[in-house]
Amino acid sequence: MNTILHTPEGVRDINPDELKKRLIIENKLLDVMSEAGYLHMQTPSFEFFDVFANNIGLTPSRELYKFYDKEGNTLVLRPDFTPAMARAYSKLYFNDNSAVKLCYSGNTFVNGSDLNGRLKESTQVGAEFYNDDSCIADAGMIELVIRCMKTVGFDDFIVSIGNGNFFKGLFDKLGISSEDEKTIRQLISSRNNTRVRDILSGLLIDDDMTELIVHISDRYTTRDSLFDLRDQIDDETCIKAVDRIISIIEILEKKGFGRYISVDLGLLNKYDYYTGVLFRAYTFGFGDAIIKGGRYDNLVKEFGKDVPAIGFGVSVDELLIALSEQESNKKAGKNEYLTFALTKGRLADKTMALLEKAGITCDEMKDKETRKLIFVNEELKLKFFLAKGPDVPTYVEHGVADIGVVGKDTIDEENRKILEVLDLGFGKCRMCVCGPESAGKLLKTRDMIKVSTKYPRIARSYFNDTRHQSVDIIKLNGSIELAPIVGLSDVIVDIVETGSTLRENGLVVLEEICDLSARMVVNPVSMRLHSVRINDIITGIKEEL
Ligand code: PRP
Repeated sequence: MNTILHTPEGVRDINPDELKKRLIIENKLLDVMSEAGYLHMQTPSFEFFDVFANNIGLTPSRELYKFYDKEGNTLVLRPDFTPAMARAYSKLYFNDNSAVKLCYSGNTFVNGSDLNGRLKESTQVGAEFYNDDSCIADAGMIELVIRCMKTVGFDDFIVSIGNGNFFKGLFDKLGISSEDEKTIRQLISSRNNTRVRDILSGLLIDDDMTELIVHISDRYTTRDSLFDLRDQIDDETCIKAVDRIISIIEILEKKGFGRYISVDLGLLNKYDYYTGVLFRAYTFGFGDAIIKGGRYDNLVKEFGKDVPAIGFGVSVDELLIALSEQESNKKAGKNEYLTFALTKGRLADKTMALLEKAGITCDEMKDKETRKLIFVNEELKLKFFLAKGPDVPTYVEHGVADIGVVGKDTIDEENRKILEVLDLGFGKCRMCVCGPESAGKLLKTRDMIKVSTKYPRIARSYFNDTRHQSVDIIKLNGSIELAPIVGLSDVIVDIVETGSTLRENGLVVLEEICDLSARMVVNPVSMRLHSVRINDIITGIKEEL
């Protein structure tokens, strides 16, 4: 008998009941697309590696499932539909100069390695519109997103619209290099205002412009506010980018869809092929966007036909999670609570004291003897729980906590999709390379060095990307200072607060990597769907810092 009954991690069996529901949803989505004129087509599950290769700016090569055919060609399971559809369109419609609307459904395969509950095989339904670069095409695509959301049963949702050209124009005008631009845009999209301010001040950008950039995602979220933004900028590319969004919103408002729209010029897409308008649909019950899309005018030409295009993909697995969450919330009464995940241990008391000063209280939590795990303030409709530091970003990323308080070291190490909205100023310490004084000479070479740490991602990135030095990382879970003393490693990468642990063990700081402190983090979907409540909380806490 074969005893392997389980499936590999990241893939799963779908039972008949679930499959029935799933197929109904997929068919509803395809029907809406077909009503809008999209023709359903299929591409193969695997293609030549080059279709998804890096120059098209896609899934990193290490996350592709690769294999070889008899002729020795490298093939990959498709990680994403857009390039495969662009290839198929370029081939099938090579001599056709009309606008073409195509839709698809099928599975994608991404060999992600972090154990964060994400599937490696997931289902996508999507639409692509080729050879029409008009604003009407953009608005039509976003209308289709709204219709998809409504047709599967969502009513409470937001479609955020951004435009990648806005920052391109602005940064060109400010003379910011493309490398700095990348860093700043990533920080803007994760709302790390403190770092954005630091970098802009280093680049001598004036205060008004800095404030405009820092607040792009929270001050300019409506059509009216875009007129205000337009007046503050005298760059043609930026104005065009803003005007494009204004026109799209006007078209959608006329059709009665205004209530589903919000603007977010900080939106960033991980795929480099997006060139202009970007959009994402968010709803309660899942901690990330369910639909993602945008304009990608430079991708199709990679396959020999130079036409503009716009499209989106619906993540069916994630949509089903959100639907079932919303159903159970409906049964249990509407979920009006905001949930905080706080870090146990050193940061806990200071966090509670700060929250209390800002009027965010929870008497239940003050009882040191309690074994309760979740605490509720019924009056303020707030819930709190305490978790181990590294788990806080995970709870927030999955949206089971809306807000978290956690150290910057943990945020960098966990690298989750969360917004880092406030530096709380306490829990200050430094991430350093430490060891016996004699180990200093090893840092002057690029030879292999043995590093013990609780923070392998931070250590690897520092040694490989900043110092360009080869490392052998040894992951430990505590009392890291022991490692060089007993000869397990040459140096350690660890937190230094007062420096007394190092001193008492004859070790020194050899290099500083970065400053650390406690930060407030927010789930990106919560930030959009509870924006007024969460922004009030942020403002309240900021006043107490
Ligand atoms: C942290 C860190 C250092 C120490 C630094 O360990 O890993 O060991 O604090 O503090 P200092 O500079 O004030 O001496 P922590 O006490 O959190 O526990 P751990 O050793 O189990 O990681």
